[in-house]
Amino acid sequence: MIDLRSDTLTRPTEAMLESMREATFGDDSRDGDATVGKLEAMAAERTGKEAGVFMPSGTMTNLVAMLTHCGRGGEVLLEDGSHTLNAELGGIASVAGLFYHGIPGRRGAMDLERYREALRPTTRNQMGTALVWMENTHNRSGGSVLPLDYMEKVSGLARAKGVPVHLDGARIFNAAISLGVAPGEIARYSDSTCFCVSKGLSAPVGSILCGTQNFVERARAYRRMVGGNMRQAGPVAAAGIVALETMVDRLAEDHANAKRLAAGLNRIDASLVDPGEVDSNLVRVEVRKSGRRAAQWSADLRRKGVVVAPCDVYSLRFVTHRHVSAAEVDEAVAAFASLWRDS
Ligand SMILES: Cc1ncc(COP(=O)(O)O)c(C=O)c1O
Repeated sequence: MIDLRSDTLTRPTEAMLESMREATFGDDSRDGDATVGKLEAMAAERTGKEAGVFMPSGTMTNLVAMLTHCGRGGEVLLEDGSHTLNAELGGIASVAGLFYHGIPGRRGAMDLERYREALRPTTRNQMGTALVWMENTHNRSGGSVLPLDYMEKVSGLARAKGVPVHLDGARIFNAAISLGVAPGEIARYSDSTCFCVSKGLSAPVGSILCGTQNFVERARAYRRMVGGNMRQAGPVAAAGIVALETMVDRLAEDHANAKRLAAGLNRIDASLVDPGEVDSNLVRVEVRKSGRRAAQWSADLRRKGVVVAPCDVYSLRFVTHRHVSAAEVDEAVAAFASLWRDS
């Protein structure tokens, strides 16, 4: 099976397993743990922030970021297709108690005019903006990378009004590789940034939320509130450290494979995907022209040994990662081509 559903399928490397065996076992939420502390410090350094706090998932780092910035009051502005609005089961409203205002956008970037109009102060008659949100890379739009000048504009407008900015950087290292900059150059347009070591970086679990010392101290309390204290988390943090040390540069291979995949599918039919719009390791494929739904495509491809997930009624998401080679990408394209001819 060629499994292209997600980069979270990546298994830990031998070096990660070795580091896990040797990790410390301090109770992180009682006395602290040296390995967790090291990962948090590395995360802060990579994102150019003062401090970091380790959590089990990207969803939790996002939730804790909202709670810490907004304290259960106000409105969050974010792009309509953001992961938080589409795949985090409404925690923004049901757990964090926040209003949200989805702004239409393209390739993960909010329409700037609509954003400018929506950014507003609290008055006696209206709820003001408590937080502005960006996502880079942007999952739902096929791993697109937000340009830095766009991020600068969004952040500049928010900061001029005293509104904090959060960056959901679950795949910030993919964005950094794609833009050819250090992750800190992306994170600087936000007050808080989170990223995951559990995706293309191949660690088994974990995400880190970074910001100022004061922000992270308050975030630790909200992490506890939502059940995110991990106690003896040294072994999981150890794998995260190896992920940051050894797995970042190779993401370029996943990007090259994603381009190869997109080019192959585009040769079958140009309506499927525009390779020029593939920025990182996610490829969104539109199958509407075939008249068959994504779920049907997914079932048919599986019978040919290729596993992909539908991400909309007529869209599939292909994700390249460490366990998919260029040759397997070509096999996946060939399988798709034979089904397309039969459709
Ligand atoms: C952009 C983005 N944010 C947050 C998450 C949530 O991460 P997790 O699955 O670790 O909760 C994901 C997961 O794919 C994501 O793509």
